[in-house]
Amino acid sequence: MSQVTEYSEKVMDHFMNPRNMGEIEDPSGVGTVGNAKCGDIMRMYLDIDENQIVREAKFKTFGCGAAVATSSMATELVKGKSVREALEVTNKAVMEALDGLPPVKIHCSLLAEQAIHAALWDYATKNNISIEGLKPPVNDIDETEEFYKMTSEQA
Ligand code: FES
Repeated sequence: MSQVTEYSEKVMDHFMNPRNMGEIEDPSGVGTVGNAKCGDIMRMYLDIDENQIVREAKFKTFGCGAAVATSSMATELVKGKSVREALEVTNKAVMEALDGLPPVKIHCSLLAEQAIHAALWDYATKNNISIEGLKPPVNDIDETEEFYKMTSEQA
């Protein structure tokens, strides 16, 4: 991918009109991750059926435009995929689907990848299954009061 210096049309579209923003009640898996450098936070909710296919994905992000756009695209990419395939929705895959991100914003797309992994980890733990290649989340800051405070202020 060639280096981009500004936001692509796709990034702007997903930032201005985020897909799948919100919560899933009683999700199969939920994961919350944060970026220590900028303090941005992302929470991902997954609804996974009995065949281990992601039926629904939703997100809440308190963060920059690139974080919102990457969460939006990440939810679009994992929907309809098996949990194993969802694991392959890396930050690179999300960035490619968005036609790239400026280099200073690449770390924002990592949040989306980590949030998917954290939600899958939660699902796997709750159901006592193992998903090949899935590692424990690096930064699961589940249930922080700060997150709720910030998301309610955002609403
Ligand atoms: Fe923090 Fe983008 S600046 S996620």
